[in-house]
Amino acid sequence: MALSSNKMEFVKYIWKFISLVSKYRLRMAVFMVVIIFGVTLETSRSYWLKMIIDSLETRENLGLYFGIFSFSIIGGNLISALSYHLADKVLIPLAREIREKVFQKMMELDFAYHVEKNTGSLISAFRRGDGAVFNIFHNVFRELLAVMISLGVSLYLLYWVSPLMALILVGLFLINMVIIWWLIKRNLGTRREFNKAEDRVSGVIADSMINYETVKFFAAEKRERQRLGKSFDNWVKTLWNFGLTFRIMDITIGTVSGAGTLLIMWLALSGSFGVGDLVMVTGLITGFYWQFFNLFFRIRDIAKSTTDLEKYLEILDMETKVKDPKRPMKIEGLNGEIEFDKVSFLYPKNKQMVLREVSLKIKDGESVAFVGRSGAGKTTLIKLLLRFYNVSSGQIKIDGVDIKKMRKSDLRSLMGVVPQEPVMFNNSIEFNLTYGKENAKRAEIREAARKANILEFIEGLPKKWKTEVGERGIKLSGGQKQRLAIARAMLADPKILIFDEATSNLDSESEKMIQKALWEVAKKRTVIIIAHRFSTIRNVDKIVVLSNGGVVETGKHEELIKNDGIYAKLWTLQSKGKYTDKAEKLI
Ligand SMILES: Nc1ncnc2c1ncn2[C@@H]1O[C@H](COP(=O)(O)OP(=O)(O)OP(=O)(O)O)[C@@H](O)[C@H]1O
Ligand SMILES: [Mg+2]
Repeated sequence: MALSSNKMEFVKYIWKFISLVSKYRLRMAVFMVVIIFGVTLETSRSYWLKMIIDSLETRENLGLYFGIFSFSIIGGNLISALSYHLADKVLIPLAREIREKVFQKMMELDFAYHVEKNTGSLISAFRRGDGAVFNIFHNVFRELLAVMISLGVSLYLLYWVSPLMALILVGLFLINMVIIWWLIKRNLGTRREFNKAEDRVSGVIADSMINYETVKFFAAEKRERQRLGKSFDNWVKTLWNFGLTFRIMDITIGTVSGAGTLLIMWLALSGSFGVGDLVMVTGLITGFYWQFFNLFFRIRDIAKSTTDLEKYLEILDMETKVKDPKRPMKIEGLNGEIEFDKVSFLYPKNKQMVLREVSLKIKDGESVAFVGRSGAGKTTLIKLLLRFYNVSSGQIKIDGVDIKKMRKSDLRSLMGVVPQEPVMFNNSIEFNLTYGKENAKRAEIREAARKANILEFIEGLPKKWKTEVGERGIKLSGGQKQRLAIARAMLADPKILIFDEATSNLDSESEKMIQKALWEVAKKRTVIIIAHRFSTIRNVDKIVVLSNGGVVETGKHEELIKNDGIYAKLWTLQSKGKYTDKAEKLI
């Protein structure tokens, strides 16, 4: 079962690769003509040598034969160089195109895919895939083709001298092909296992690198090395298995083809051939032996590369679950009214619903706060609103339009989000700040930074806006990252602003300043705030209390206090500084 599916994959991805190459068919045609010409010239060299020997006595046409023979040596070299050059004309743009395609597809894949992926493993798959593109191209279109032509020419010339020899050659070829096919299937399986082990090793390396801070906190450098060592155990085992299949192939194919070629040579020597024929047959047979080994190496190399290419190109076949509609609707002149209508949600692979029939209306221009214990589903509501996932049931509407009917990019461009844990690109402050509005003017950028209370900090830096923030923004403090993320969202100037714990890392003074700016911005738009600190949410138009996957209370701060429900209890506890676990359990 496993083997037959491997066989299918092998063909499928080679075919996919060929279809990608077909875009360059004109260049390919020129390349192939050159290859065919070059190889025919090279293989027929033995024939011209025979002609030289045969005409040594009569001297008839000797100059012509010698001329052709010389051309096959000198010209062959030039043609070979030309063919490499022509191959590059196809390969370089092709490699770039495939890499860009795979990258774009990866960027477009669902949030759920990115949650599951392992960056280290993926990068190793990318690297192998890239190598495989070059390898397969050269092996399929250059080497394999060359070997086949060369075999064809040899066979023809040999048949001309002795049909029996040609027959033995064909038999040898077929026997070897069967053995190769059988051995390569095994080789492919071991390669796949090795690739998995290799990806795991890369995954561990990347994971340790990303978490270097935690490693340092716990002085766990040695432990990380041991962890890597463990994944290397399997790597070594699978690599040995992979390597062993090669040894078996070398021995089997080498013995069979070696014996076969010797048999033909023996026939030639014991026959009544002239010197010229003998030289040609010997030349062809020894050439054939190497060609045959070459063919075998090429097929082996192709097989290896297809497993690499498979992992790379299968990204292109991955399906996006959160799809854009066929005929997307566009909201002109958005008001910013949001409605959650009986929304239930279950994370993929999870068993328990995070949200159960949540219904909620946020009016145009209203400011709303989501309150609830950690893990209640506040951030999940935002992810659903941005359509990172499809709701399991129910509907989310913006201005009365189901968000499933909008293009995802249109939907997301309506909203500016300051995430719970903002991360930055390993680039300059300016690059990060203008990520939501690339061509923003300096005055606008400064204004957004001022509102987010980060302007002074930026302008006080030696390199100011050009300051690099490090990987994921590591060179910034938590609060600076948050303020930069706030400035980024404000600069984009969206109709709907979402703050997910956006000020949790800030000191009270910064928080107050940002809140002031926030309320100013909020006048013109719909705002959703998630916060644990009640001081932040007092002033909103509506507070929504989430618990056990549902909305349990809604209302203004004063109303909720008057109602004397969960919110009121929490408020009392927090304002008295007694916000305890017991209180958390209430919501
Ligand atoms: N990608 C995911 N896959 C599976 N489960 C998830 C995923 N993201 C979140 N969850 C689970 O969903 C639940 C709700 O998470 P969510 O992030 O919405 O909580 P929250 O209310 O924002 O909490 P906090 O106040 O701590 O930020 C949690 O139990 C969490 O473990
Ligand atoms: Mg959250």
